[in-house]
Amino acid sequence: MKTLSLFVTGTDTGVGKTRVSAALLQALSAHHSRVVGMKPVAAGTELINGVMSNEDVVALRAASTCAVPPELDNPVLLPDPVSPHIAAARAGVKIDIAHLVACHRALETLADAVVVEGAGGFLVPLSDLETGADLAQALALPVVLVVGLRLGCLNHALLTLEAIQARGLTLAGWVANHVDPAMLAQQDNLAFLRQKIQAPLLATIPYQRVPDPDALRFNLPLEWQ
Ligand SMILES: Nc1ncnc2c1ncn2[C@@H]1O[C@H](COP(=O)(O)OP(=O)(O)OP(=O)(O)O)[C@@H](O)[C@H]1O
Ligand SMILES: [Mg+2]
Repeated sequence: MKTLSLFVTGTDTGVGKTRVSAALLQALSAHHSRVVGMKPVAAGTELINGVMSNEDVVALRAASTCAVPPELDNPVLLPDPVSPHIAAARAGVKIDIAHLVACHRALETLADAVVVEGAGGFLVPLSDLETGADLAQALALPVVLVVGLRLGCLNHALLTLEAIQARGLTLAGWVANHVDPAMLAQQDNLAFLRQKIQAPLLATIPYQRVPDPDALRFNLPLEWQ
């Protein structure tokens, strides 16, 4: 059977892409024996269990059910927690989209489902000329949009939808993530998004101070099962 691959983007940085990708991996693992997360470009390292690591990469590995070579699930690891193009310039690294695509294709041979977490928001710069959208387009994967429900998210969601469509990519689904418990009119915002986004709502994630993926329910499209 062909490997299922998805590209997870978000309305901004810090909206819950990693939270959702990890939960999605867990939901997919009910249907696929080998699920693996991929963070093509990670910016920002810290000491985790005595090793300088990126927390997204660590979280995605913890949610994966098969171990893969680290140069495949995280080909570019940059020390500074800044925009990838700046982090790459500071590290003297050139981000090569063709190489990232080759790593993803290699992962597809090792797993039954691959969840790729993009960096930042959809148009995050990877170099002076290329963005995360160019990577998504080169990967040619269905996109999952994580909307972090907070003030400003409706504008961010509509802009991201336009950008996904302009690239000729398919929005396969979206996730409403309650990142701000103090946000006003959460249900009105959700209703607006449900009306505007044609793709299926895969999950609504409540505010959970401590992540509890077991408490979440994903409506996975049949072709992902
Ligand atoms: N549903 C939620 N309830 C409570 N906190 C959340 C929720 N979703 C995300 N968070 C918190 O918000 C922060 C950002 O989440 P996360 O790291 O998943 O975002 P991201 O979009 O992956 O960020 P980045 O752009 O850095 O990759 C984290 O501290 C996370 O624990
Ligand atoms: Mg993340």
